[in-house]
Amino acid sequence: MSQSLVTMSYIVATILFILSLSGLSNQETARRGNYFGMLGMTIAIVATSLSDTVNSYVVLILALLIGGSIGVKAALKVEMTQMPELVAIMHSLVGMAAVLVGYANFMDDSSTISGVEKTIHEVEIYVGILIGAVTFSGSVIAFGKLSERITGKPLLLPARHWLNLALLVMAIGLGQMFLSQAESGGGLAPLLLMTVVALAFGVHMVMAIGGADMPVVVSMLNSYSGWAAAATGFMLSNDLLIVTGALVGSSGAILSYIMCRAMNRHFLSVIAGGFGTGSGGEAAVIEGDVHPIEAEETAQLLLAAKNIIIIPGYGMAVAQAQHTVNEITKLLRDKGKRVGFGIHPVAGRMPGHMNVLLAEAKVPYDIVFEMDEINEEWGDVDISIVIGANDIVNPSALDDPNSPIAGMPVLECWKGDTTIVMKRSMASGYAGVGNPLFVKDNTRMLFGDANKMLQEVLKALKG
Ligand code: TAP
Repeated sequence: MSQSLVTMSYIVATILFILSLSGLSNQETARRGNYFGMLGMTIAIVATSLSDTVNSYVVLILALLIGGSIGVKAALKVEMTQMPELVAIMHSLVGMAAVLVGYANFMDDSSTISGVEKTIHEVEIYVGILIGAVTFSGSVIAFGKLSERITGKPLLLPARHWLNLALLVMAIGLGQMFLSQAESGGGLAPLLLMTVVALAFGVHMVMAIGGADMPVVVSMLNSYSGWAAAATGFMLSNDLLIVTGALVGSSGAILSYIMCRAMNRHFLSVIAGGFGTGSGGEAAVIEGDVHPIEAEETAQLLLAAKNIIIIPGYGMAVAQAQHTVNEITKLLRDKGKRVGFGIHPVAGRMPGHMNVLLAEAKVPYDIVFEMDEINEEWGDVDISIVIGANDIVNPSALDDPNSPIAGMPVLECWKGDTTIVMKRSMASGYAGVGNPLFVKDNTRMLFGDANKMLQEVLKALKG
């Protein structure tokens, strides 16, 4: 394929990626956005495969077959609730690729460039390996935390901020050493040392982040993986990889900002770590009587209500209760009830988790509302049903300054008439914090698996 045709294909792929991102920003256009992305990626892979940068089709086809089959197998096997872990491990692969491409470039002695161009190329290699190594180790730890193989509790080493600063200073110093040694054909030792420093930094950064801050970490690593891909693009002189990496990097950064705003946190204090541990004292112990309820009575309350809000959380995903939720919604709406959904920005375990589940079950988009819209309406709400949610409806985020989630905006369902919480026990949620909502006078607890209980409610509603 001629170079101009490759460039043309890259421009078309870039436009498709931009259309994809804009499509993904809205539920109604998300499916179309995905198709644009898939088409763009197909064009990118075909154009790159046919370009003159490929010198061994055997290696290329082998790599495509191995990588492709691992990807297909993982995607087919993964449960919806494991999606965030899969995304985290995929980010780590992008980081690893940047590190490997960096070392391959460093060892490549066929390059003929010299002077400033050579120095720029060496900076690209150094920065590419640095970002790649941080992304790799940080994503592996995030994978461990999200899959609960590593504790969600933040690791707070003494003088951790000084440690981070020391690692940063070392990375800069080693960079200077690398550039001066690379002039005379050396530089491997500082490069290796910096890789170890960057790996340690990635591990330390994510280990220090508390459970409640994981949404920010997931989107931040998403951003890092984009910058790692862009750095790889610079090293390989591949314009499409640079542009695509920059798109992922900047959209991930915007998502991190949105997540921080949703949790009322400053980005820098999240990176510095330790959120999820409280600002000093212990969170209050939850005391009071629990008022249980059965499915039959829940159905009666729903039939008597006019205005109903459903708040889904991570437990709905675990129980795969979204289809039953949709059936109940349809039935109640047919009976003339006003039913709406309140979605917290960090509900579940990945951005947009609840929206994806509700869309899969074909819940109409126009009755799905954001937290801020719903929080203005509680005065008119007769019943709210909390399905497998915990942290996102915890009043101590607003009332208890010592709570590890103090300051995080939540869905203030207790301000409505009656709240029915569906969960299996009194266990805490992802942030490991007790929830006073469960013992409020106007809260009733419907204990059991969310899908099982909802099916019983549906049966009672039909009966
Ligand atoms: P959580 O606070 O984790 O609460 C989920 C609740 O679901 C648990 O308390 C659990 O209680 C219940 N549950 C689990 N399986 C269930 C089942 N089969 N049936 C019924 N209930 C079930 O979830 P949330 O309220 O959605 O809040 C999200 C949390 O995850 C936040 O802390 C957020 O920061 C964090 N997080 C979010 C993300 C993103 S990007 N959204 C990423 C990482 C972390 P029982 O065990 O008693 O049933």
